[in-house]
Amino acid sequence: MALSQGAALMEKAIGHDNNATTEQDITNPGRDRAKYADPSGETMKALVWNGKNSVKMEEVPKPRVVEDRDVILKITGSTVCGSDLHLLHGSVVQLEKGDILGHEFCGIVDEMGPAVKGLKKGDRVVASFQIACGDCFFCKQKLSSQCEKTNSNTMENGMYGGRTAGMFGYSHFTGGFAGGQAEYTRVPYGDVNLLKLPDSVPDEKGLYLSDVLATSWNCVVDTRIDPNDTVAIWGAGPIGQMCADFAFMNGAGRVIMIDSNWRLDYVKSKYPKVELIDYSTLPKGQTVYSKLREMCPRGPDVALECVAGEYAKGWAHYFELQLGLETDTSEIINEMITSVRNYGRCGVTGVYVGYTNHFNIGSLMERGIRLIGNGQAPVHLYWEKLCKMIENGEIDPLKMVTHRVSLDELDDVYYKFEKKEDGMQKVFVETKFSAPAAAGSPALTRYRK
Ligand SMILES: NC(=O)c1ccc[n+]([C@@H]2O[C@H](COP(=O)([O-])OP(=O)(O)OC[C@H]3O[C@@H](n4cnc5c(N)ncnc54)[C@H](O)[C@@H]3O)[C@@H](O)[C@H]2O)c1
Ligand SMILES: [Zn+2]
Ligand SMILES: [Zn+2]
Repeated sequence: MALSQGAALMEKAIGHDNNATTEQDITNPGRDRAKYADPSGETMKALVWNGKNSVKMEEVPKPRVVEDRDVILKITGSTVCGSDLHLLHGSVVQLEKGDILGHEFCGIVDEMGPAVKGLKKGDRVVASFQIACGDCFFCKQKLSSQCEKTNSNTMENGMYGGRTAGMFGYSHFTGGFAGGQAEYTRVPYGDVNLLKLPDSVPDEKGLYLSDVLATSWNCVVDTRIDPNDTVAIWGAGPIGQMCADFAFMNGAGRVIMIDSNWRLDYVKSKYPKVELIDYSTLPKGQTVYSKLREMCPRGPDVALECVAGEYAKGWAHYFELQLGLETDTSEIINEMITSVRNYGRCGVTGVYVGYTNHFNIGSLMERGIRLIGNGQAPVHLYWEKLCKMIENGEIDPLKMVTHRVSLDELDDVYYKFEKKEDGMQKVFVETKFSAPAAAGSPALTRYRK
């Protein structure tokens, strides 16, 4: 049995804590039809986890209101995130076959529990990827990703010494909530976790407030950029791209992107000032470190990690990962620590799951490097401000959207996104409820005839 499913069974054996104020482990309304499925018997399409390296489309029951502050959202837009690949690969644990995935989505309020305030049927809204109660120590400060009341997972608490909030479509490790890569989703604490979208912000732009925009903004401002700083960014995926955009916006003088494929040229085509390092084409003897020192002799002031810990570069970490001797490679973190100038700042936004070997703690200590875990991004802290910035044209999320695809083909799209095929940077996934493509957004691509 795969590690991910084994860990889910272990959690069942240990049992959850009792801190959560919303029901846990409703990852598919079909798990208990009498309690979680719409009484009409209506079904919907949803993308489910189907074991390690496998996802599939399934017809499952439509969800119902389970708690008084639930909203049932009719989904009009979703996407695939680099974080979904960690679920696909089974590196984030505690998934069960049939769990509905997806944590970035927008839609229309379809039904509401009696205690939902400030929303009405028909409102067009975007959901935050995290589920927050709105009322605990962290929620009062809008640090919604660390809500204390929506995730009672014992294993996460044991491994980390504390927990994150519950998250949509992100395994039982974060509460076990059905995700939004579906036609309908249940949103607990709907009045807290949904933001109304103004008429001037179409779904194709507003959707990304769920995660990627707030995450990239958090990465940049939480790590901090001082005027004219040189910022090096590992990973030219959607998160790295928006970090480049926001780094310039927050005063960076230079931005250097590091990756190994066409995405570097894609980002450069959007922001010509960006400088590039393709580590796959460095001449023998040259490393990311030496190239960075050639480009800026003292080293960049700031390094941002927008990749993840599961992608080993060399054989040593590859085998250590395979053998379970570590859960994450330290290669990128070490490149960041050694490359930045003394007293430089390194922000980690890419997902790291557990433990790493060969961490260069000496360089960190001796040279005064600030290593900052940016955390799962607290979306509620930023989303109103970012929405205004979309409205007034300061942010254009369409700069990263290369494809519009259909929910029916989302299983195929996962594999294409994973392999970075077809120039896929970020997708907009439409459902049968979506409005026609907004101006400036890509036309529908069909992969199956
Ligand atoms: N902290 C949060 O709240 C949060 C939210 C969303 C996403 N994330 C995480 O951010 C990371 C990036 O997300 P994304 O959607 O852009 O992912 P992505 O998988 O689309 O992009 C990652 C990029 O990193 C590149 N890469 C791989 N190994 C590399 C290396 N050694 N050096 C430099 N680049 C390398 C890949 O080629 C790819 O282009 C993921 O780990 C994702 O889970 C975190
Ligand atoms: Zn995400
Ligand atoms: Zn809370």
